[in-house]
Formats: sequence, structure tokens, C-alpha cells
Amino acid sequence: MTVAVQTLRHPFLTGKPKRLFIDGKWAEAASGKTFDTINPSTGEVLAAVAEGDAEDIDRAVAAARHAFTGPWSKFKPFERQHLLLKLADLVEQNFEELAALDTLDMGGPISRTRGSRRRVLGMLRYYAGQATAIYGETIENSLPGEYVSFTLKEPVGVVGAIIPWNGPLGATIWKIGPALVTGCTVVLKPAEEAPLTPLRVAELCQEAGVPPGVVNVVPGYGETAGAALARHPDVDKVAFTGSHLTGQKIVEASAGNLKRVSLELGGKSPDVVFADADLDAAVPGAGMAVFANSGQICSAGTRMFVERRIYDEFTARVAAFGSTLRVGNSSDPETQIGPLVSSEQLDRVTSYLAIGRQEGARPLSGGERLTEGDFAKGFFVPPTVFADVKDQMRIAQEEIFGPVISAIPFTDIDEVIERANKTNFGLGSGLWTRDVGKAHRLARGIRAGTVWINCYQAMDPAVPFGGYKMSGYGRESGKQQIEEYLNVKAVWIRTG
Ligand code: NAI
Ligand code: MG
Repeated sequence: MTVAVQTLRHPFLTGKPKRLFIDGKWAEAASGKTFDTINPSTGEVLAAVAEGDAEDIDRAVAAARHAFTGPWSKFKPFERQHLLLKLADLVEQNFEELAALDTLDMGGPISRTRGSRRRVLGMLRYYAGQATAIYGETIENSLPGEYVSFTLKEPVGVVGAIIPWNGPLGATIWKIGPALVTGCTVVLKPAEEAPLTPLRVAELCQEAGVPPGVVNVVPGYGETAGAALARHPDVDKVAFTGSHLTGQKIVEASAGNLKRVSLELGGKSPDVVFADADLDAAVPGAGMAVFANSGQICSAGTRMFVERRIYDEFTARVAAFGSTLRVGNSSDPETQIGPLVSSEQLDRVTSYLAIGRQEGARPLSGGERLTEGDFAKGFFVPPTVFADVKDQMRIAQEEIFGPVISAIPFTDIDEVIERANKTNFGLGSGLWTRDVGKAHRLARGIRAGTVWINCYQAMDPAVPFGGYKMSGYGRESGKQQIEEYLNVKAVWIRTG
């Protein structure tokens, strides 16, 4: 484990404070305040960023409303498609820079952020492809007399998008893309921990020809800027990704004007390993289902259920695999595991490491923050596997959002289905087996938005992703996501 000393030089980091992006222009916060955003690998300040608050959100929402009814509302499907394809090309041309910005601001290893290229560009081009696939239906009615009835699909309006820090580039595209394809306008509130990439994407939107006010980005804190957006009376929909606790606040705030809400929240996803699985594939598969992005993935397979007769051997192998991963500065291309995003997140994860021990779980690997040498300046926790975990332990119930696996033994399939479902969450799930019968039974038995069989974390822009239970509602990706940004209007014509 080493920490490279060199930090990437980045063209977006000019030394000047970053501003809000409202109505196609850079703007100071009304308060004049700024906050610092830091590189979690080194603790160094990357930039001061204008700190948006309620007044700035008001301005951005007004710009988004004005744009919604302006020339943007006259864009034809082909024109919106063209715009998205242009944006995709610009993101492609600037991809290295965007990946590096994500790496510096949130600490995703550069190998990982570069590796998101296919997904990010795929999303934009998928949305572009959907532009001509949005249409209503002609519906036969049974009224006496002569009536024609049909539906129109219309953009829902001004969308407030609130995103977390665990993948700023992808999260930004995941909200802006569906808004652009449907003809909505957006005010995006990035996470305070990682606001830089969303600002750069806003700039690229403008370069692509997105009209002023269609995409606005207002960095700021959740309790201030985020809350103002969530309760704003002129916002038609909030698309939120983050913790379930904040999700609940968003729902409460939405009541004022009964705005539409879609929520992609956290999880405590089960990953079930049967003794008959290809264990050589399951070891790194189940390991990376949690260690990737230092565990800061909503659908991470953090409850690893292992069939009892292979439990000791398999959990030891996953722990050993975790120990081979190279932890270090995220700007180093050799790094596989970077830091956690912030000192708050570090405190949160290390407190769970202590809780796990107190509860009687046994760390087989990791289990302690790294502090030697340069590690002390960043927020590093190595891949950790806890053995002897019981279902009711907090480390088996609560989202840790760190590289921490809770390994739990099981004996038979009915038992594991029941225990896998004993959680308030239902986002992801995985299973490893060569038995197609078991695979089918679990795929149907598990209450979660996604089931991965002999793989984990596979994602595609065309395949819907989202939660059951407290992991939220609404879907992202796929046709289902497009519908989240549309209203259906019924039109009746009396022809007789
Ligand atoms: P969070 O849910 O508080 O933050 C996510 C976004 O919501 C940020 O942009 C934040 O500024 C905003 N926000 C916070 N409070 C708000 C409010 N009252 N109204 C409107 N917006 C608000 O999550 P946080 O504090 O960053 O992380 C805490 C824990 O949440 C993590 O340790 C993890 O367990 C979970 N989490 C889950 C994520 C997921 O993708 N499922 C993403 C981020 C966090
Ligand atoms: Mg927060």
C-alpha cells in the first residue's frame, strides 16, 4: 500500500472560486459566501465554491421556469436528440478531464472514473435515442356518440435534482439526460462534498447548445440549498439520490405543492454465495460488490450470506482478496481502492468498525483506518471483512457506506431468502450458484429492485434501476425513467 505524492494538475482548477451556474451565466452566491471542496486523498483544498442558498435557488428556479416556457418548449424531438448527441460528443472529447475531476473531488480511483466512460457516454446516447420514442396513444372509448380520445406525453416541468457525492459525473448525467430528452428544465444541487464535475458538465451543456436556464447548477449545503429546492412551490418534480433519512425529508418537503418525487436511496443488499458456485469467480465478485469505490455505492452487496459448509474458507478467501487490493491516492493509476469522500464519512465508517467489534463480529482483514505516512492526510479505510455476523447486528442492518463486508452463514435456500429479506431496504441483491433452479427461486424471492446472478453491479442505460421498500421509489434508466419526467394528458374530441 502506497500513497503517490503527485496530484493531477487540472484545467478546471484555476485557483479562482467556482461560481453558481444560473441562466447560462456564472454567478456569485447572493450571500457572497463560499465553501471549500477538498481532495480526500490528500486533504488539500481544490477550490472555493460559491455557496448557494434559498435566494439562489429562487433565482435558478425562476430561470428554469422561464426557459421551460421559452424557445426550449418548441424544440422538436430531433433537435433534442441532436443536442444530447452533441453533449455526448463533448463529454467524450473532455472525458479524461471529467474523470480526473471526479477523482480529485470525491476520491474515486482514476482507474475507476476512467472506466465509467462507456457507461456515461452510453447514458447520453441512450437518452438521445429515446427522443423520438416519446408518444401518446390513441385509445378506443365506449361513449355513446362519436368521440376520439388520445393521450399526449408532456414534460413534467421544472425538475429539482439533488445528487450525492459517490459518482458526481454519472449522477449528473443520470438527472440531466432524462430532463433534456423530455423537454424539462433542471436545477441541480450537487453534493457539498463534490460539486466540481456537475459545474463542468453545465458548461459543456451550454457549449452543446442547451439554451440558457434549461440546466442550472447550484452548489450548496443540503439543509439550506437542498431543502429550499425540495420545498420550492415552483418546482414540479424532485429527483433525489442519497440517504433514506434525507429521502424522508424530501417527501415531507414535497407536500407543500404535492410535487412529484423519485427517490433512489440506500441499501443493505444481500449477496448470497452457494457452495455450488464458481468460487473462483465469486471471491472477487462478492469482494468487489463491496470494495469498489470504497463501498460508497448504494447497491453494494454488504450482507454476504455464505453457505455454511464453505463459510470459513470462502470468507477467508474474500478477506485475502481484499488485502491484495492496492489502496492509495486516487490519482495514481495503480490504485484500486481510494479514500472515503470526507472526514465525516471516515468517522461514520470507523464508528461502524468499532460497533462491529463491540457486537462480537470478528474482523478477518482491515478493520482499522490507515494512518501511516501520507495515509494520515487522507481518509483511508482498507477492505474489511467481518466474520461471525448475526442478522440483528447493526453492521448487518445499517448502511455503512464503506468497504466493509458483513459475512453471515446460512444453511438452506428458504432460510436465506427469508433472512435476505429481513431488512428495511431493497435496492440490489446478488447470488452465486451454478444451479439454475436456485437462481430462479432467489430471483423471484428477493424483494429488491435488482437481482444480479453470477455477477454484481452490472448496469446499462436501458435497464431500469431502483428500489423496493426504503430504498425508494421510481426507476432510473430505461423507459421507466423517461416516464418519471413526463405527464400524461388525455385529450377528448367530440367528432359527431
Ligand atoms: P445525504 O442524503 O444527506 O446527501 C445527499 C444529497 O442530499 C446531498 O446533495 C445533500 O446536500 C442533500 N441533502 C442533505 N440534506 C438535505 C435536505 N434536508 N433537503 C434536501 N437535500 C438535502 O447523504 P450524506 O449526508 O452525504 O451521507 C450520509 C449517508 O447517506 C452515507 O454514509 C450513506 O450511508 C448514505 N448515502 C447513500 C447514497 C446512495 O447513493 N444511496 C448516497 C449518499 C449517501
Ligand atoms: Mg449530508
